[in-house]
Amino acid sequence: MRTRNIFFFLLMASLVLTGCETLKASKAIIPIKEYEKMIAGRLDANYIGTRTCLSACHFHDKIKQDFDASTMGVQLSRKMNLPLVDCESCHGPGSLAVEGLTPEKVAEDARAGKQTACDYKTLIDLKTLPAQAKSLICLKCHTANATFNLHNWNAGTHAVSDVACSDCHKVHAGSDLKVELQHMAEMCDKCHLTTKAEFSLPSHHPVPEKRVFCNDCHDPHGSINEKLLRKPTVKETCTQCHAEKEGPFAFQHAENTEDCRTCHSPHGSPNNNLLTTPPPFLCLQCHAGHRTGPLTSAENRAARNTRCSDCHSTIHGTDIPSASGKGRFIQ
Ligand code: HEC
Ligand code: HEC
Ligand code: HEC
Ligand code: HEC
Ligand code: HEC
Ligand code: HEC
Ligand code: HEC
Ligand code: HEC
Ligand code: HEC
Repeated sequence: MRTRNIFFFLLMASLVLTGCETLKASKAIIPIKEYEKMIAGRLDANYIGTRTCLSACHFHDKIKQDFDASTMGVQLSRKMNLPLVDCESCHGPGSLAVEGLTPEKVAEDARAGKQTACDYKTLIDLKTLPAQAKSLICLKCHTANATFNLHNWNAGTHAVSDVACSDCHKVHAGSDLKVELQHMAEMCDKCHLTTKAEFSLPSHHPVPEKRVFCNDCHDPHGSINEKLLRKPTVKETCTQCHAEKEGPFAFQHAENTEDCRTCHSPHGSPNNNLLTTPPPFLCLQCHAGHRTGPLTSAENRAARNTRCSDCHSTIHGTDIPSASGKGRFIQ
């Protein structure tokens, strides 16, 4: 009996241990210092400054101009003469890349119809870095203290799902480093195809019309709330704009206390008013239908079989009692 128990214990222990191994293997979490090594650049290279970096070459003039016109570049590199954000802040030390690149060589190559490239393989290979390392480059400066809305970044779904800062912020696409409101939905849609489809349903929040924006409800940088919502509950998310549905009402519809999702799809729906289910079936999920007059009245039958809210028009809540003195959401 005893030996069998020990055998059983060993078997379970080995199962648990192998179980843990597989979990570890499938999720490649590596210590942060490994990512730090990836973004250090070549240790035998020196920092030379943007001006030296680009002095012999005009191939990157556009990048440089945009960069100088951006918040990140202009504030520190040029006007204030404090070269804190340089090309090398992200690309790593550049002395090896420009070794032997003189204006004379560039001119000579140009005469021969060639474009001189720097030895960019000695720089950090930004394109193939893991997402965590890419983001770490930005987080060197954009700490949670410096950029307040990044204080939940590490716990956010995007960071956890291998999305990097530069997947959303195209650093060299122009001088505007932020994601402009006008282009936000398009940018998010690249990865969120289901969401895109929801916003093209007949009833939808006017996101494609650019009157409501993804970040009115979500914080792409991470949030302690479910689904990256800016507010702790769905109801609070909605009542930012639909304050009249918030209550408290003298007569509150029981289902309108916590979550608007019982009846509404936040992005879009094939039914009017973003309803999850078309009325009367929406209501009939929880209530029995009823008569309000003589059974023979065709009008009455039609009404109760179509839209309950034709009569129960204040379905979210009301302060006005119905004829019987109760809260029936009639007016
Ligand atoms: C804030 C960080 C940052 C700074 C500062 C920066 N870059 Fe970049 N750069 C990046 C990232 C990230 C990429 C990779 C983009 C991608 O993922 O395709 C990149 C890509 C590039 C590329 C390759 C572009 C391509 O389309 O293949 C060049 C060239 C370049 N940078 C030049 C510069 C120059 C010149 C400067 C300084 C004037 C500079 N960068 C400053 C982050 C930066
Ligand atoms: C060497 C430091 C440094 C690095 C590295 C850096 N930034 Fe910045 N960034 C700044 C500074 C300084 C500003 C301007 C001040 C501010 O707005 O916080 C800025 C501004 C910005 C802004 C514009 C903010 C606005 O209000 O217009 C964005 C967006 C941004 N950075 C994104 C990035 C991304 C993405 C990366 C990584 C690819 C990155 N930064 C890497 C220092 C840095
Ligand atoms: C999923 C897309 C996405 C990712 C990933 C992302 N951002 Fe942003 N970021 C945005 C959008 C959209 C805005 C503009 C709207 C806003 O203020 O929320 C923005 C705004 C910013 C701003 C300006 C903030 C301000 O308060 O004015 C900075 C700085 C910034 N991001 C830095 C970063 C850094 C650093 C990272 C990586 C650690 C990052 N972002 C990752 C989408 C993203
Ligand atoms: C009016 C507020 C609102 C707007 C605007 C909005 N969302 Fe949402 N979104 C929500 C709510 C609420 C949820 C949670 C839904 C749920 O759990 O059923 C959600 C969920 C999501 C999810 C998770 C879906 C899932 O099934 O897990 C993604 C992804 C998403 N939104 C992306 C976006 C994108 C991209 C945009 C802009 C194009 C956007 N949202 C605009 C409110 C909004
Ligand atoms: C580079 C691809 C990419 C871009 C761009 C992107 N996302 Fe995501 N997003 C993801 C991935 C990956 C996940 C996690 C898997 C999933 O839920 O689909 C995710 C998850 C989410 C979720 C669900 C969070 C949760 O906890 O379930 C929301 C909400 C969301 N993203 C909003 C946005 C918004 C808003 C934007 C634009 C500002 C955006 N995303 C841009 C890749 C992206
Ligand atoms: C940023 C402001 C904002 C937030 C947050 C917001 N809405 Fe809206 N909502 C709007 C606007 C704007 C309209 C369009 C009104 C119009 O066209 O007159 C709208 C329309 C609606 C409609 C009517 C749709 C139709 O087809 O006529 C419903 C239902 C709705 N919202 C529910 C919600 C719910 C549920 C939430 C929370 C998940 C929410 N709203 C969050 C701004 C917002
Ligand atoms: C019990 C189901 C139910 C719940 C829960 C619910 N709604 Fe509604 N909502 C409806 C119905 C039904 C309509 C359509 C009314 C009509 O036909 O006139 C509607 C319409 C709306 C409209 C558009 C018409 C108008 O009156 O402005 C908005 C906005 C709205 N709801 C917001 C919300 C918000 C915000 C919440 C959460 C606080 C919420 N709803 C919770 C059932 C519900
Ligand atoms: C998810 C379930 C659910 C849905 C969907 C729902 N309700 Fe309700 N409703 C309730 C609950 C729970 C109460 C509180 C019952 C109570 O206090 O006896 C209630 C109360 C009511 C009352 C007051 C009844 C009373 O006895 O005081 C009316 C009227 C009502 N609902 C109408 C509607 C209509 C119309 C719809 C569709 C637009 C609807 N409800 C959708 C769950 C729901
Ligand atoms: C022709 C108008 C009308 C229509 C349509 C209608 N109702 Fe009513 N409903 C009333 C009136 C009037 C009362 C009683 C009000 C009072 O007690 O003062 C009532 C009461 C109720 C009550 C509380 C009394 C009870 O029976 O428990 C519920 C629940 C209810 N309705 C649900 C619904 C649902 C669900 C629908 C759609 C299938 C619906 N109603 C359609 C007018 C209507």
